[in-house]
Amino acid sequence: MALLELKNITAGYDQNIILKDFDLSVEKGEFVSLLGSSGCGKTTCLRMIAGFSEPMAGQIIFDGKDYTKVPLHKRNFGFVFQSYALFPHLTVFDNVAFGLKMRKMDKETIRHEVLHMLKVVDLEGFESRYPREMSGGQRQRVALARALVIKPDLLMFDEPLSNLDAKLRVKMRVEIRRLQQELGFTAIYVTHDQEECFAISDKVAIMNKGVIEQMDTPSEIYNRPKTEFIARFVGFENFIDLERTGGCEFKANNGARIVTAADHEGSCKGCIRPGDVTVHAAGAQVPNAIQGRVLVSTFLGQRNQLNVQTDVGEFVVSTDQNQVFPVGETVTLSLAANKIILID
Ligand SMILES: Nc1ncnc2c1ncn2[C@@H]1O[C@H](COP(=O)(O)OP(=O)(O)OP(=O)(O)O)[C@@H](O)[C@H]1O
Ligand SMILES: [Mg+2]
Repeated sequence: MALLELKNITAGYDQNIILKDFDLSVEKGEFVSLLGSSGCGKTTCLRMIAGFSEPMAGQIIFDGKDYTKVPLHKRNFGFVFQSYALFPHLTVFDNVAFGLKMRKMDKETIRHEVLHMLKVVDLEGFESRYPREMSGGQRQRVALARALVIKPDLLMFDEPLSNLDAKLRVKMRVEIRRLQQELGFTAIYVTHDQEECFAISDKVAIMNKGVIEQMDTPSEIYNRPKTEFIARFVGFENFIDLERTGGCEFKANNGARIVTAADHEGSCKGCIRPGDVTVHAAGAQVPNAIQGRVLVSTFLGQRNQLNVQTDVGEFVVSTDQNQVFPVGETVTLSLAANKIILID
């Protein structure tokens, strides 16, 4: 049984419904990310799980118990925000000790636990510093220690790294993943950074307009997106309507014959990434050929990007730097059969 289950949740603000019939299931020890564009309801979802707000309808089940109406302070959950939210007037020690003091633990245990947790996040010796005397990354690690020290049953992160520079972000996300694997906590992590969420998660739930459109392992989502929205999210830029003519053979709407490695009943959409389309001289005899004309050529360092107008729509393709195709030139595109994904 899942550790956390959201069933048929409706949530929002006043008359404004943000999540509708929302379901989510998280296993014990799992690291799940919610990924989605700004305003799609990620924070709303976390706040509700944490107990900052109540759903309008539906159920939150945690460890087999109905948590829908359990108040915030009775849920042993941790929360790490984008803005750290440390107490500015408290030292690092007292910031981390806060949750333990609230739980009325004895002084010696608190001291032991706090010092241990500061060691875990690599902040030994920082006990008497104040947040203002620390860098962003250090503050974020204090926030992490403060959330972890209470040994939460569930730890939620709301874009915890978005205030840090790119290098530190990568370092911290490895750090969070290491801690999670070491301590085995269950986590829900919110971000709109695709790379970050794929790097850190066991499973990724991609949200679109208040629902989860696909929830799978990062590699499954990357290799087998189920919808056009998800496919676009993970770098597919070319989509063609296909009609099945038999086996793995399809016909594009300009009549071109397209052979794929995967099969799909009836009509579907073929998707392919820019790097999986090769560009050849006009009329070249190549598999899955589509004729087109170069509209735009963009220098991208190692690669060039071409926008090619074809009669099945505009293609974005990426070519070797030494392959030059001037704007206006007629070319033949070849779609790699085993790189075409078919979706409904
Ligand atoms: N307190 C509030 N009162 C009314 N509407 C709100 C409130 N908080 C958020 N909303 C609205 O609810 C929707 C979802 O907001 P939410 O904060 O969950 O988005 P998000 O996915 O976390 O976005 P972001 O990536 O920008 O943080 C938005 O349209 C937002 O304007
Ligand atoms: Mg948010």
